[in-house]
Amino acid sequence: MQIIHSVTEMQRYSDARRRQQQRVAVVPTMGYLHEGHLSLVRLAKEHADTVIVTIFVNPTQFGPTEDYTTYPRDMERDVKLVTSAGADCVYAPTPEEMYPEGYQTAVRVDKLTQHLCGITRPTHFEGVTTVVTKLFNATKPHLAVFGEKDFQQLQVIRRMVRDLDVDIEIIGAPIVREPDGLAMSSRNKYLSAQERTAALVLARSLFEIRNMCAQGESDALKLSRHVWQTISAEPLAKIDYIKICDLETLEDITHIRRDAVAALAVFFGKTRLIDNSILKTA
Ligand code: PAF
Repeated sequence: MQIIHSVTEMQRYSDARRRQQQRVAVVPTMGYLHEGHLSLVRLAKEHADTVIVTIFVNPTQFGPTEDYTTYPRDMERDVKLVTSAGADCVYAPTPEEMYPEGYQTAVRVDKLTQHLCGITRPTHFEGVTTVVTKLFNATKPHLAVFGEKDFQQLQVIRRMVRDLDVDIEIIGAPIVREPDGLAMSSRNKYLSAQERTAALVLARSLFEIRNMCAQGESDALKLSRHVWQTISAEPLAKIDYIKICDLETLEDITHIRRDAVAALAVFFGKTRLIDNSILKTA
């Protein structure tokens, strides 16, 4: 396992692999890894000879009142985990390496970032697309794997890659859930025991409407009302948003005519969790 901290060393590593005709994959992460991340690494390994995992808690995607400084970090444990999952290299730049003095450039995707999480986190996606571009330029991969839990992020990155002619294949990987349904997230660590139990309502309500939809219910308002009522009945839950939207544009829909996505963000105490489910028409 090679651990690299500098951009030029990272580029040299990847250039060497490419010269050996190897297919290079990157799995961008913010560390504090869990089984969900490891599933991305394994998927990447199926598609590539060399898998680079980036570990960087990116300051520019956190709002001023968000959890950048307290975001959990454990590099030693992360390196062990990705090694066991089959990664070949960890790229862990410092904030100074990523954003040296004088830094002033950003990558922005327009419409897609204005829905869902973009409403309450207006600067978040610009931070994501900018850092992902920089991580791509440092790791020079043929392909990159992102989790579908951050569904909007995945669609925004797909759009960016298409719009800017970035020659990297983007692969989405299914959400990994705890046995009781809770979607895996580094932020689950913040939840108290009661909040964690309460948070099960998210997966349960999404699961219910997925079944309703599969049985022929196509009224999106009725489905989102069902989720809203189920989650509102949980006293520890404070809803940020619940939306049923078009898979591609992320615009709200009233009727499900083709596959759609139900996406939500809900606070339990100070912890904001997101989850989603693809809704398939009957
Ligand atoms: O999904 C994440 O962990 C982050 O948003 C990403 C893609 C690594 C960019 O910092």
